[in-house]
Formats: sequence, C-alpha cells, structure tokens
Amino acid sequence: MEPEPSGDSDRLRWNTRYERRGTPSFTAHPLASRALSIPPPDGPVLDLACGPSGATLLAAADGREVTAVDVSEVALGLLGVEVRRRGLADLVTLVHADLLEWRPPRSRFSLVLCTGYWDRVVFGAAVGALRPGGVLAWEAFTTDARRERPHLPAAWCLAPGEPASLLPAGFRVVDVTDSGVKRSLLSVAAG
Ligand SMILES: C[S@@+](CC[C@H](N)C(=O)[O-])C[C@H]1O[C@@H](n2cnc3c(N)ncnc32)[C@H](O)[C@@H]1O
Repeated sequence: MEPEPSGDSDRLRWNTRYERRGTPSFTAHPLASRALSIPPPDGPVLDLACGPSGATLLAAADGREVTAVDVSEVALGLLGVEVRRRGLADLVTLVHADLLEWRPPRSRFSLVLCTGYWDRVVFGAAVGALRPGGVLAWEAFTTDARRERPHLPAAWCLAPGEPASLLPAGFRVVDVTDSGVKRSLLSVAAG
C-alpha cells in the first residue's frame, strides 16, 4: 500500500479531533486580537491553519477580507456555518488545502496569522505574502514542549530564537513572548 501523504494524515487526525470536540468556542486567539489592534494597514488577512477560527471571525467583523486555510474540512465546515450565521460570508474565503503544498499569493496580505502550527517553509511563504507594512503574528510550540509531549516531532517545534531569527532584513519585531512551551512573535514588515 502507498504511504499516506503527511498532509492526509494531518487531515484525518484533525478531523477526528474536531468531530469529538463538539461546538467550538470561536474565541479569537489573544495573539490575533493583539495583531488586529496594532492595527495592520487596510487590506486582507490570511489565517493559516485556521481551525474553527475566532480570529477569522474577529477580523471579518472588523470589515476585513479573510482567507482562512486549513487541511481539515471538518474545521472549515464548523467555521463556515458560523461565518454564515454572523453574516460574514461575503468577507471570508475558506480554503481547504495542505499548507505543505498550498502557497499564498505574494505581497498581498496586511496581516498573516498562524497559531498552533509550525513549518519553516510555510513561515517563509507567509513572510512573502505580506504587503509592505503588513503584520505577521505567529505562535507555535517550542522544542521545550517535547519534554512534556515527547510524541511532538521536532520539525513541528520552534528552535531557540525562532521564528524571529528567520525574518528577513527590514522586519521590525514588536514582541516575542515565550511561555516555555510556546513562543509567539508579532512583527511588522518594512513599509
Ligand atoms: C492546534 S490547531 C490550531 C487552530 C487555530 N489556528 C487555533 O489557534 O485555534 C492546528 C490546525 O492546523 C491544521 N493543520 C495541521 N496540519 C496542516 C497542514 N498540513 N495544512 C493545513 N492545515 C493543517 C489542523 O487541521 C488544525 O486546525
């Protein structure tokens, strides 16, 4: 039998989790609230590995166009129902895709947000998707998290200094917060 592509195993695993969890809270991640309050320049938002995202709902309620991408069609289904219930369907585009294959358009987004997911190549593509002055907000597990969660692959965890150390020249770091097991970055691209 052919081995499952990694994106497909992520899809099945996350579908099962979302099916078991029931109705999501749709609470925006605190990093999304902070990023939106900077505020980013006018323009669209990209929410990567969005899940049933409160961040997408918050940004759209603020009048922004949002592209929300996830490999789990269950997560996108839950989010889609809530998007329509809140009357935000004109502003939100749901993209069912594996981030290891999907690439965003370059220099397009005013805010790129990703919480709860890490991949270095995806990070590079996210940086390239920002327009001048755009805001990048990212949170992921650090390698320290593997002490408590030994099953976490190292490739899914931020190495010391990441992701700020991966930013190209011209990016301003607004904040790095490290809780030990997770690290978040808020950064602004050169205007
Ligand atoms: C920890 S959840 C985070 C969800 C949301 N961003 C949040 O902060 O609540 C990780 C999300 O990444 C998605 N994901 C995992 N692997 C992916 C991949 N290869 N491509 C796209 N999405 C992926 C999962 O479906 C899941 O919704």
